[in-house]
Amino acid sequence: LAISTPVHLMQILPPLDPAPQLPDPPVLVRPGEVWLVGAGPGDPGLLTRAGMAALLQADVVVHDRLGCEDIIAILPPAIRRIDVGKVPGASRWTQEAIEAVLLAEARDGQRVVRLKGGDPFVFGRGMEEALHLEAAGVPVRLVPGVSSALAGPALAGIAVTHRDMARAFRVATGRDRHGDVPEVPPEEETLVYLMGVSAMEELVARLVAQGRPETTPAAVVSRASTYRQTVVRGTLADIVARARAAAVEAPSLLVVGATAGGDAGVYTPRPALPAVVATSARLPRLLVARLGGRPVVHRPLAESAPLDGPPADWAGVLTADWIVVPSPPAAEGFLRELRRSGRDARAVRPRLAAIGEETVEVLARACLSADVAVVDGTQGGVAAAIGAALVGAHIVVVGAAGSTSTLPARLVAAGAARADRMAVYTRRARPAAEPHWPAVGAVFFASPSAVELMAAAWPAAPVATLEAWCVGESAARRAAEAGFGAVVDLAATTPADTQGEWEVALG
Ligand SMILES: C[S@@+](CC[C@H](N)C(=O)[O-])C[C@H]1O[C@@H](n2cnc3c(N)ncnc32)[C@H](O)[C@@H]1O
Repeated sequence: LAISTPVHLMQILPPLDPAPQLPDPPVLVRPGEVWLVGAGPGDPGLLTRAGMAALLQADVVVHDRLGCEDIIAILPPAIRRIDVGKVPGASRWTQEAIEAVLLAEARDGQRVVRLKGGDPFVFGRGMEEALHLEAAGVPVRLVPGVSSALAGPALAGIAVTHRDMARAFRVATGRDRHGDVPEVPPEEETLVYLMGVSAMEELVARLVAQGRPETTPAAVVSRASTYRQTVVRGTLADIVARARAAAVEAPSLLVVGATAGGDAGVYTPRPALPAVVATSARLPRLLVARLGGRPVVHRPLAESAPLDGPPADWAGVLTADWIVVPSPPAAEGFLRELRRSGRDARAVRPRLAAIGEETVEVLARACLSADVAVVDGTQGGVAAAIGAALVGAHIVVVGAAGSTSTLPARLVAAGAARADRMAVYTRRARPAAEPHWPAVGAVFFASPSAVELMAAAWPAAPVATLEAWCVGESAARRAAEAGFGAVVDLAATTPADTQGEWEVALG
């Protein structure tokens, strides 16, 4: 059998030295403990590494809604969640009920993470929860979070301190526990008011009555760090009217002070670009390279999981001429099942064809070098990449159980003697909260089945107003059939080419 020269392999072989990695944070959540974890202001990227490590060890996560929604969306579904979020106007959970549920779960020997928006000790009643649990004999650990009080102004381009203009800052509540608006502090301080939007009119009137000039810059930052972030700027004279006109939504904070105009520095906040909803658990590089600053909304609609029992007959697979590995989860599943069968890389005699750079990397971690690799990440090029060696060959395509991929048939049509499928992992649908469509411009689909999962999950999505960013022709065809306003096949265009095109398309 003639073996073709490796195709494209030189450009994409992963480096022999792995990328440097920080050691894992020393986090060990024990049964019966409660970890109070700060979620940050909403963007999962602003959750700390220690916070993430604690979450991944939890049996149960008791969470707020504020700041936590997008983190909950990407947690492995096997982790139990209890939503104790207080919905404005309809507070379902009293503080006592939250403390009682934390206590009950800890006493039941669960590893409990109490996930709270921002930092647990900044207007979060975190200390009350900690003291209550400690008094009942439950050990409590704390992982601080990035408070919206800091991240909110920063992401709106507002420096809370400035050597000349703002020598201190104060974080205050817009209303104290009796509903009163606080006293006005010295003029050189930047004021960051949390929970102040409903009291804004009164707050601003008091600031002016007590001597703050009406020309003092002010800003309202809403849903900071999330794909729905908005910033309204003005002065004490007009910020209330501007915020009302813009119908700002909770959660929002009010910033007042010389730097609140956002022009006291060189940092320009992220422009409000339409977000991209990622329906896959991973963010493939093909997608990341094309984001161009658009925020990502994580809404994985499916997840891969190990098979219940060992897969097919390895003897047959390992005497094939080629094994085609079409995706990173297929590579992981193949390696997992190989190990489960008591084998390792030494048993893999067939040639390997991998689709996509990340697949090549997963195989390389097990010392398996792909003989050919299809760099655009789609199935279309496999036959061409294998070339003459395909003729008369026995091929095994590894993938998800129940896959309906047409790849084996295409390989036979291109000259293979036989092409079998072997399941090495399963895929299951997972529920995901519907995104806020007005802030979304595109939905990313890694496969045709992802388009179907979305149609089933969110039947009322305004697809005609959305772009579908697809990997490969079949996903693109499925998205067009589903009625998307525009369909882009990411694999068919290079990032450099598509950048300009999309800027135009998104206007
Ligand atoms: C009960 S306090 C909790 C604060 C939280 N512990 C923290 O450190 O950010 C809730 C208030 O925080 C502010 N807030 C929280 N997340 C926000 C965000 N992403 N954007 C703007 N304001 C936010 C709002 O003023 C909201 O009313």
